Amino acid sequence: MDIKELSKWADDQVFYQTGNRLSSLQKSILEGVLQSQDFCEIKDNNGYSYDHVKREGAKLWKLLSEVFKEDIKQSNVRSILENKASATIYNFGNSSQIVSSNINSHINICREYQEYPEYIEKHSPQSENQTSIIDLTKAPELNCNYGRTSEISTLKECILENKTRLITIYGLSGIGKTALTLKLISEMQIEFDYIIYRSLDNLPELITLKNDLKQFFSQPQLTPLPEIIDYLQSSRCLVIIDDLQNIFQFGNVAGQYLEEYKDYSKFFKQISTTSHQSCLILISSEKPPDIEILEIENKYTKTLYLQGLGEDAKEILREKGLKDEDKWNELITLYQGHPRWLNIITLTIQEYYHDSVTQFLADNDELFLGDIEAILENDLERLSELEIKVINWLARQNEPIDITQKHPEFESLKSKYRQIIQSLTRRCLLEKLLGKDGGKFQLNSLFKAYINNKSCN
Ligand SMILES: Nc1ncnc2c1ncn2[C@@H]1O[C@H](COP(=O)(O)OP(=O)(O)OP(=O)(O)O)[C@@H](O)[C@H]1O
Ligand SMILES: [Mg+2]
Repeated sequence: MDIKELSKWADDQVFYQTGNRLSSLQKSILEGVLQSQDFCEIKDNNGYSYDHVKREGAKLWKLLSEVFKEDIKQSNVRSILENKASATIYNFGNSSQIVSSNINSHINICREYQEYPEYIEKHSPQSENQTSIIDLTKAPELNCNYGRTSEISTLKECILENKTRLITIYGLSGIGKTALTLKLISEMQIEFDYIIYRSLDNLPELITLKNDLKQFFSQPQLTPLPEIIDYLQSSRCLVIIDDLQNIFQFGNVAGQYLEEYKDYSKFFKQISTTSHQSCLILISSEKPPDIEILEIENKYTKTLYLQGLGEDAKEILREKGLKDEDKWNELITLYQGHPRWLNIITLTIQEYYHDSVTQFLADNDELFLGDIEAILENDLERLSELEIKVINWLARQNEPIDITQKHPEFESLKSKYRQIIQSLTRRCLLEKLLGKDGGKFQLNSLFKAYINNKSCN
């Protein structure tokens, strides 16, 4: 493993244990020291003062010592990391791909089991000598991962207690679906023999995806099994398929498979309705109707609607060094605790308001969108013509709407109107209200502001 790979592996381990990645300076220090550079050379290469690099270095050794449960220093970091990594990295197939990296060292190295007696007792794997084989090589690197405690415990309950076979996590783009799933993996590795993450970003045909999975599951078995379901039955596998919406049609109602990807739906049904000991997690920004039906008919299928981070979003603001903590709740509520939207707004506050949330809020009596607009536009591009018509109308409404009431604009649409409302809800653009307005629907406030701004310009 070369220096870059070793440093990435160490960064992944830090992420899986703490939820945070190394800072760019910490990565440079680590890579520099792994290449036998001293702090003077590292400072020159990075443009920081010697004292600053030294201080960050001390923090880095402390962090790595905690994560790897060894006394790590500048002098021994390379040998310790190489030893740990060699025990957890597998060569995969003929491509020498790294089967990541994500494995807490106590899963693979038996001597280290003893260091976690309580954990092991609670999460006993099928066999103590068994090693989880994990491939997160296609998973994105996410820098922070705060909160999500209740979602993680719901998912764990689904998987461990209810033996759910098919889980769909859906929510607005950028709400943190992938981040949540990566956090779940970091906490559940010990429960599975195999864990693999794949995205449908580049639209693989089902056969291609199946072959990819088979190749992964065939490790280290000598005899390949005929079908994916056979692997799911013979081992405990956790399969994550991200970006499901990529195989759905543009310009149609939500969750309609593209013609040549319709066989995916049958595959998901087979996984949900056949008995096995594994779990498939689908991640999508649209809730697929076929999965909704499976959920009604089959108790081993569950969906999780992911919403904002709530209070935990404060950690994002804290990490970015924003000021005026007493105003943070207001900012978080305005941007719905949506991590990507908050990241974007934070940048604006840093650049133009000297980190002051108070100044930002005072200066913007209307909801400020800035670079969020491009993301919202991207989401809206998927809509059908009728959905656009209805959403434009919804944006002009001042009160939540009751879909049982007839609206003259949509008389001619008849039952299609209800289908459109359902589709916008499946895209998470429209929310069904609880409480006194129970049963009524309301357009997401950021989309409302964006659509109204656009029609004024
Ligand atoms: N729990 C969290 N704590 C801090 N930051 C987060 C959290 N969840 C997500 N983020 C940040 O928000 C951004 C979007 O997260 P992520 O990619 O997981 O969203 P997503 O729902 O998978 O988006 P997409 O639909 O585009 O795939 C990332 O920059 C990520 O680091
Ligand atoms: Mg994602």
